[in-house]
Amino acid sequence: MSELAIPELCLVVLVGASGSGKSTFAARNFGRFETLSSDTFRGMVSNDENSQEASEAAFEALNFVAGKRLEAGLLTVIDATSVQTEARRQLVSLARAHDVLPVAIVLDVPLAVSLAHNALRTDRSLEPRVIKRQQDQLRRSARNLGREGFRRIHTLGSMAEVDAASIRREP
Ligand code: GTP
Ligand code: MG
Repeated sequence: MSELAIPELCLVVLVGASGSGKSTFAARNFGRFETLSSDTFRGMVSNDENSQEASEAAFEALNFVAGKRLEAGLLTVIDATSVQTEARRQLVSLARAHDVLPVAIVLDVPLAVSLAHNALRTDRSLEPRVIKRQQDQLRRSARNLGREGFRRIHTLGSMAEVDAASIRREP
């Protein structure tokens, strides 16, 4: 069992392909209101959690709520793939605008695992090539996270590591 140390107040950015287990990990390790999921926000602004057309509105709303939480001094977790540099850049800016540290938790599980989870899902199913592309983007991003401004970077490289990980909040 490994403990991932994070500051008591920070912006946690989960990074991982669809099916890597981000939402499951967040539900296990963070409180009900601490995690802001891009899919939930897509649902709120469009009635469809999977609507890619709703992404812009969803992220605008998510950023607004995240900003309110950070202003109130509340740790906040962003549950989105965040495999693209531009997506992470906006989140690092958001953290900086509120003087909190951006922290990355990377779920770098094997592609086969994300694909298998995806295939078993009943709530949504993506084409395998979409997940492959996300995994490629994640791999290319991994070494840049420090330079992008993330102050702590925790990488979980297998489902076993994801399952065994817990969070330790440091004052
Ligand atoms: P997106 O929201 O599409 O980006 O995916 P996600 O990264 O949030 O993955 P999610 O947590 O929804 O996990 C997808 C599926 O994988 C779940 O429906 C579970 O069946 C399975 N799964 C996730 N985490 C675990 C885990 O720790 N152990 C096992 N056995 N299965 C898991
Ligand atoms: Mg999810």
